[in-house]
Amino acid sequence: MGKRMLVTLAVVSLALLLVACGGPAPSQEPAAAPTEAIQQQEELTAQPPAADGAILLEERCTACHSLDRVMGAQKSHDEWAQTVARMVGKGAQLNEDEQAVLVDYLVKTYGP
Ligand code: HEC
Repeated sequence: MGKRMLVTLAVVSLALLLVACGGPAPSQEPAAAPTEAIQQQEELTAQPPAADGAILLEERCTACHSLDRVMGAQKSHDEWAQTVARMVGKGAQLNEDEQAVLVDYLVKTYGP
């Protein structure tokens, strides 16, 4: 009885050891590489609009008031689009492309 228990324990711990050491390692490495590549790609594509948005905000949105109003706000995409359109109505200098870039940046930075 006691011997059989010991044998069972030995088999179980051996199996656990195998799973712990041999199991995940080979399957993890190939999986990690593509995610990293995708993340890098996302950073690359996300960076230019974000930088442009920050510049647009600084250059075009500070003529009439400070950025305190912007920084205190938390708006959804629709709300920011409305606000930016309203500011353009007041005289903010932004063409349609610039408005889209700025709205994207605002949602990312001051989103809900
Ligand atoms: C021509 C002047 C002018 C420019 C340029 C301007 N604003 Fe405004 N903004 C105002 C005035 C006046 C108010 C306060 C009255 C109001 O809210 O309508 C205001 C209020 C705001 C508010 C607070 C009210 C709200 O709806 O949340 C935000 C946020 C805001 N502006 C963002 C911006 C952004 C972003 C830009 C750049 C695209 C910008 N503003 C450019 C005149 C301007």
